[in-house]
Amino acid sequence: MDLDIDRYLDEKAAILNAALTERLPKEGDYPPSLHKAMRYSLFAGGKRLRPVLAMAASEAVGGRAEDALPVACALECIHTYSLIHDDLPALDNDDLRRGAPTCHKVFGEAVAILAGDALLTIAFDILTGREGAHAGRVLRAASEIARAAGSTGMIGGQVVDIESEGREAAFPVLEYIHIHKTGKLILASVRSGAILAGADEGQLNSLTRYGEAVGLAFQIADDILDVEGTSAEMGKAAGGDAKKGKVTYPSLIGVEESRRRASELVERAIAAIDGLGPRAEALRGIAGFIVARRK
Ligand code: IPE
Ligand code: IPE
Ligand code: MG
Ligand code: MG
Ligand code: MG
Repeated sequence: MDLDIDRYLDEKAAILNAALTERLPKEGDYPPSLHKAMRYSLFAGGKRLRPVLAMAASEAVGGRAEDALPVACALECIHTYSLIHDDLPALDNDDLRRGAPTCHKVFGEAVAILAGDALLTIAFDILTGREGAHAGRVLRAASEIARAAGSTGMIGGQVVDIESEGREAAFPVLEYIHIHKTGKLILASVRSGAILAGADEGQLNSLTRYGEAVGLAFQIADDILDVEGTSAEMGKAAGGDAKKGKVTYPSLIGVEESRRRASELVERAIAAIDGLGPRAEALRGIAGFIVARRK
């Protein structure tokens, strides 16, 4: 199968954006500052990688992309909340995100914090709030996403990231940060999309190895882009990691070795889903995109 990955990403992002538009409170809904801030960050752009992974994982196990929409919407709300909070002065203190001023720059810190809280909460409303035929699958997906986003996942990684700023860190600490702050939610995206589609345990095992590998590769690529990318292309500040003394792959092992490891992880990811056959072609394309991307 000859898959145009850019086209696939665009098509699936459009499906996701339509679903999110429908499910989010309107801008004018009371209190308007809050709902404006939520929509501002959510619809500022973004690659929609986690939702697209969930949709591609659904297709890889014989489901439809649309079957993954409840988790896809939830994942993007959680991810966007994590970006709003990540950019706050108390964390990375960044002014530019998705090509626009960060949420706290436009709405103030208090509303930005609360918009993040509300996006995290609405994620689980969207995921669980509709009667459907597969309550057991939804419950399992919700539990996995919650754990991936919380202290055993993304937030754990964010805490160690912040606490390691300006310090020497050993490689296992770097790995912990990256696997948790970014890898866990990406892994949960792949798994939860497949779970909603009724994947069996064998398929889930393959997808877990795929998700772990692309999740780590994604943050290594993010670190490399912080060194080599431009703000204009990425829509967020470049070069900030070194200034802040962040513990990153390039800072510990250099850009070349970082690139080599990211490519190796992509190969490992693709090998892990060999048994899923042609239906997993989009997942293979996404794995390549993760290291080739310029933003
Ligand atoms: C940025 O994520 C934050 C990380 C976890 C590295 P993305 O690169 O997916 O950001 P958007 O969603 O495209 O803006
Ligand atoms: C962010 O990592 C991870 C989360 C938001 C959970 P970074 O701090 O490296 O992300 P960017 O570079 O600001 O997008
Ligand atoms: Mg950060
Ligand atoms: Mg940041
Ligand atoms: Mg970064």
